[in-house]
Amino acid sequence: MKKSIAVFASGNGSNAENIIRHFKKGDLAQVNLVLSNSQSAFVLTRAQALQVPYSCLSKSEWEDGTHILSMLRDYDIDFIVLAGFLARVPDCILNAYPNKIINIHPSLLPKFGGKGMYGDHVHQAVVAAGEKETGITIHYINERFDEGTVIFQATCPVAPEDTSEDVAKRVHVLEYKYYPEIIEELLLKV
Ligand code: GRF
Repeated sequence: MKKSIAVFASGNGSNAENIIRHFKKGDLAQVNLVLSNSQSAFVLTRAQALQVPYSCLSKSEWEDGTHILSMLRDYDIDFIVLAGFLARVPDCILNAYPNKIINIHPSLLPKFGGKGMYGDHVHQAVVAAGEKETGITIHYINERFDEGTVIFQATCPVAPEDTSEDVAKRVHVLEYKYYPEIIEELLLKV
């Protein structure tokens, strides 16, 4: 039986699409559900085009969590992947999926993490701080933003003349390469 993955995303969804495509190629797992908290998230268009069931839930549904948990049960979800998801995961879902919810953060945590540190804000802060390297962190999630146990990190250089867009591009390359691979490794243990 293939493992069943849900992806939570709030924005563009390029990682979500990369993960969906990756698992369409193999027998281990498939993305069976994409959930968002934003009606305008482009990830919903991507999910539709890739024929993956998707839904956008309201603020109160994300706060309460019970309806979302029952959707996850309906789709037999084994594992949850956050890919640019900007809302809090409800406690009832955290409790139902211990060590089965992961996130990717576009910096080397604990550097440039925490509330407000998402998307381009992270890369701008990296450039402003004159960092010589940055990268990605894949980690379990818990009640606090960006503080769950680190599973994997990969680095890339930052040059003095780099803009935040240059850094974002380099970080995205790491995300696309490693996120599906790490998900695959973790799924073998679920
Ligand atoms: C990625 O950089 C990811 O690390 C962060 O949010 C960004 C999402 O990009 N958590 P996309 O929506 O997958 O294109």
